[in-house]
Amino acid sequence: MNENNYVQQGPIGIFDSGYGGLTVFRSIVSHLPAYDYVYIGDNARAPYGNRSFETIHQYTLECIKAFFKLGCPLVILACNTASAKALRTIQQLDLPGLAPDNRVLGVIRPTAEIIGQYTLTGHVGVLGTKGTVASKSYEIEIHKLYPGVTVHSKACPMWVPIIENGEYNNAGADYFVAKYLDELFTETPEIDTLLLGCTHYPLLLDKIKKQVPEHVKIVAQGDIVATSLSDYLTRHPEMETRLSKKGQRLFYTTDDTVDFDLHGKNFFGEAIQSKQIHV
Ligand code: DGL
Repeated sequence: MNENNYVQQGPIGIFDSGYGGLTVFRSIVSHLPAYDYVYIGDNARAPYGNRSFETIHQYTLECIKAFFKLGCPLVILACNTASAKALRTIQQLDLPGLAPDNRVLGVIRPTAEIIGQYTLTGHVGVLGTKGTVASKSYEIEIHKLYPGVTVHSKACPMWVPIIENGEYNNAGADYFVAKYLDELFTETPEIDTLLLGCTHYPLLLDKIKKQVPEHVKIVAQGDIVATSLSDYLTRHPEMETRLSKKGQRLFYTTDDTVDFDLHGKNFFGEAIQSKQIHV
């Protein structure tokens, strides 16, 4: 608050290494259209999925600082890899010195809270980047909430590069979609629930559907994260009052804006116009 007791309001920040977070952003604006939003895609340095903990933490933190400079009191990491590898360190070690009243939230916990409700066999498949799978974050979080559920994770390291390079509709993508899914379902045919644990993967949904048995429920995170954010804002009026509500949406990319606008609209579902940002 300033000296006139006026609360400085700002937009909600939505972050991903690249385009994937736009699939979550799309669901968030459809659930919560009144708020202002800023999206940053770190396309210049994507994919994050195969990078070390130190690098993912450094890149994510640099982007968080950019959101704070843009006046965002709340940032959602719409990226499983950053949520798995960097979120806890940012919340516990970085935020207190940086902006103790601001908040950074991830996508793994809200997804873990829901996913165990869908399975009848008790076997859930989780598809993610190498980083997300190696962190075992989904195993740990789902096991805390649903001890009877077994998580079978599969890293799909080729999927994000295919998507970031705009090849997701092309025939070449079919090979790698089939490869990882065949391996997973051959190892564990009992899986009846399949989580797309990477915000890029909904772009491959049509191809994924063709490769998995029909009875398997495929779960993307957009609506889960949007519902959880809505619930968070109801439970945290001290944050809700700090958010501006003029329905504005700003898009930033660390790379080429022409490419971002061209591909970004397929993830976001409507035309977008981005600006470049240096973090
Ligand atoms: N969309 C991201 C995720 O949910 C990041 C993928 C990447 O950069 O490798 O994990």
